[in-house]
Amino acid sequence: MLTWIRPTPEERAYIRAMGDRLIEAVERTGVAKAMMVGSVARDTFVRGDRDLDIFMLFDPSLSQEELQEKGLSLARRIAEEFGAAWREKYAQHPYINATINSLDIDLVPCYAVTSATRIKSAVDRTPFHTRYIKAHINGYVDDILLLKQFAKAGGVYGSDHMTEGFSGYLCELLIIHYGGLHQLFEAAACWEPGITIDIEEHGTKQFSEPLVVIDPVDPERNVAAALSLSRMFEFVELVRGYLEAPSEAFFCRPTTPPLTREAFIRLLGARGTHLFSVTFATPDYTPDTVVPQLRKSAESMRVLLDRNGFPANRIDVSMQKDRCMLLFELMVDEVPTICRHIGPPVWSPENARKFFAKYIHGEVFAGPYIEDGRYVVELPRPFTRAVDLLRSGTLLDIALGRHVRRSMEGGWTVDVGAGCWDEEFAGFISQFLERSSPLVRIRRAMRE
Ligand code: CTP
Ligand code: MG
Repeated sequence: MLTWIRPTPEERAYIRAMGDRLIEAVERTGVAKAMMVGSVARDTFVRGDRDLDIFMLFDPSLSQEELQEKGLSLARRIAEEFGAAWREKYAQHPYINATINSLDIDLVPCYAVTSATRIKSAVDRTPFHTRYIKAHINGYVDDILLLKQFAKAGGVYGSDHMTEGFSGYLCELLIIHYGGLHQLFEAAACWEPGITIDIEEHGTKQFSEPLVVIDPVDPERNVAAALSLSRMFEFVELVRGYLEAPSEAFFCRPTTPPLTREAFIRLLGARGTHLFSVTFATPDYTPDTVVPQLRKSAESMRVLLDRNGFPANRIDVSMQKDRCMLLFELMVDEVPTICRHIGPPVWSPENARKFFAKYIHGEVFAGPYIEDGRYVVELPRPFTRAVDLLRSGTLLDIALGRHVRRSMEGGWTVDVGAGCWDEEFAGFISQFLERSSPLVRIRRAMRE
């Protein structure tokens, strides 16, 4: 057993005492009840984690606006009473994130509903999760800690939009369902997309996600909804690798340092592709709002580039505190002026007539002419260099995320090749170029 994953008794006592003090402070006001939730309440936090979740439960007869107002003002009052640095954050509704003695504390207002199926907001389920796990966790704490650490080391832990991986609650349920870590691993090695786990046999609603774990406290919800197909099978790959050759390496985050600028330039040159970065100011919203917008925007740009003759090998996005970066690795950066545009078959009279009328007096290099019975015309391209397209206002005409568009209206920067190197994004750029699955990383780290 990897004892270093268990929190020390001092650490556990310290975090819990802080939780108790906060609960007492909330309840002393008489405004709301309070409850410790999340992994601290369930004793399933990994050593070194500094994350404490306190929920403040309000009367369900309050309106959303009243809850927001009363909840935030109470949370601010508590944070200030403890002399904490705090900031407002938004999940489905706002909460306060405070730092007290290096603990990262969420003070979350929610409704004290009587059943998880009566919830008025997603966070109202959380207290029910805590009660459920506490009632079913018997003897599985170490297995849960090992699974969480295994998922963290493999880079598949976290249900945030950037990771799209396994949440803490999902890890807990998987261990409970399969009856231990080894049992889970044996089963997961043979997972296929679409597998459904329904611990409480609710069995009604159909879900479309690759892994379905019906929430024991709410049949309407898939606990694994945030898990992407890629993260799911990265986990499966890791599990198979572990079963083949178990090693502590699967529980240690591989520490590959980012590339140096020189190594980056050498690698890029060897690939012979064309790297472009688009950077702009980070919108003032949480990662869970911004990241999906970055993905959508980058995908629209990829389609635009492709349509203009610049196919991409890969794209990726990164969000830092001040700036966001979209990376595009293109197979070509320059194309000839002409492009072939295929028209309708001549035996389709109406379409053929329209095509002919459109191009007879247009600016064309050749055509319309007939090839294998269809019209073809050779036109000039609006952009022959990818960099000109990326720097043009055309970028604002495509489907961008709302806040990304707002930010890009204030300007963006396009860098090319070696010029894409940026110390702030060194980790991201390195991982982009040296992309490989988690098992590949672990096996390579073991060899060194
Ligand atoms: N929660 C959830 N779904 C998510 C994220 C959170 O239902 N995608 C609920 C769970 O009940 C979870 C609680 O919110 O236990 C607190 O969230 P978080 O701190 O992210 O997870 P923990 O379980 O506390 O795990 P960790 O050890 O990573 O803090
Ligand atoms: Mg937590």
